Amino acid sequence: MLASRYLSVSLRQAKAPTRSYATFSPTATFAGKKNAEGKYTVTLIPGDGIGPEISESVKEIYAAAKVPIVWEEVSVAPILKDGKTVIPDEAIASVKRNTVALKGPLATPIGTGHVSLNLTLRRTFSLFANVRPCVSIQGYKTPYDNVDTVLIRENTEGEYSGIEHEVVDGVVQSIKLITRDASDRVARYAFHYAESVGRNRVTAVHKANIMKQSDGLFLDSCRKVAEEYPKIQYDEDLLDRVCLQIVQNPAPFSDRVMVMPNLYGDILSDMCAGLIGGLGLTPSGNIGKDASIFEAVHGSAPDIAGKGLANPTALLLSSLMMLRHMNLNEHAAKIEKAILGTIAQGKTITGDLGGKATTKQYAQAIVDKLRN
Ligand SMILES: NC(=O)c1ccc[n+]([C@@H]2O[C@H](COP(=O)([O-])OP(=O)(O)OC[C@H]3O[C@@H](n4cnc5c(N)ncnc54)[C@H](O)[C@@H]3O)[C@@H](O)[C@H]2O)c1
Repeated sequence: MLASRYLSVSLRQAKAPTRSYATFSPTATFAGKKNAEGKYTVTLIPGDGIGPEISESVKEIYAAAKVPIVWEEVSVAPILKDGKTVIPDEAIASVKRNTVALKGPLATPIGTGHVSLNLTLRRTFSLFANVRPCVSIQGYKTPYDNVDTVLIRENTEGEYSGIEHEVVDGVVQSIKLITRDASDRVARYAFHYAESVGRNRVTAVHKANIMKQSDGLFLDSCRKVAEEYPKIQYDEDLLDRVCLQIVQNPAPFSDRVMVMPNLYGDILSDMCAGLIGGLGLTPSGNIGKDASIFEAVHGSAPDIAGKGLANPTALLLSSLMMLRHMNLNEHAAKIEKAILGTIAQGKTITGDLGGKATTKQYAQAIVDKLRN
């Protein structure tokens, strides 16, 4: 079943048919707004490095597929405001207004410099759940043929709370923050997601054997929310055991949704991406209270930026999650078929997939498939 895996879930789609690539908005209000001409305005953040090239491919393919979307392009290049580096107000206002955005990768300085813009966006829009599906792609052979995992990562706190300080010279402390509210919120979304896509099991992934209080609180939230979903089976497993089991045989994990604190989700989702062929094929959706932002899992790939070599598939698949989040399911299905068909044929694929095509040639092959 290749069709219809890139999903996103909104409550207004609570009875959506079974799909693997999905995200669902937590409230009907935040799943896109239609204008008088029946079109949706969506914020597009092309981002850094390969971001503008792969965003261009998305725009070309959407135009060919006649998706009723008007792109509102904004830059989130940081500006100085009151002595602090911040995201420009226009970008924030655009995402607030449109409630749905597609985002290219943003480069983050390591160790020094401005705070991660990705983190800033997550905090600004309370993007509390990061949904990452990983599905084997026909035509791109990896040692695993049967990957179909969905991982939901808590996106606002944990090890990414950004609270770090030097206690004394040579001793640095970093605080992992886990709150009841954030844990309840992401757990509830995971169960809602599982119910909506027809997966009848939720597994909480943790290290509560070591971090008894923080991961213990996360698990307690999951257990309480599980009581609200009697039809969904709930269990818990240790992060290290899950990693071992998935690389040994990912197939059993296709029956469930995994939910976990921030850092575990970051690492485990990249591991799952490796099973299907890497970051160029892995989409994600950041689901928020006030807006949702869809983005590829990969970064700005500075080593190939501007060379026309980037693979736009991950951003395209992220955009399909966005379309399904907005209930534009037919458009999503049509584009998904064209993308997966182009890869399965293997004639016009980018270098990272073993082909020789440029970004533009690959996008054109998808456009040709859409028109035939
Ligand atoms: N969500 C985001 O915005 C995000 C995510 C991860 C990293 N980053 C940032 O991106 C920058 C570069 O990070 P990195 O080099 O560690 O990771 P990266 O994902 O940018 O690149 C890793 C490798 O994968 C390749 N690659 C990535 N995407 C590809 C694509 N679409 N097509 C073909 N090849 C692709 C790159 O060429 C590189 O060899 C850093 O500043 C990092 O902070 C941003």
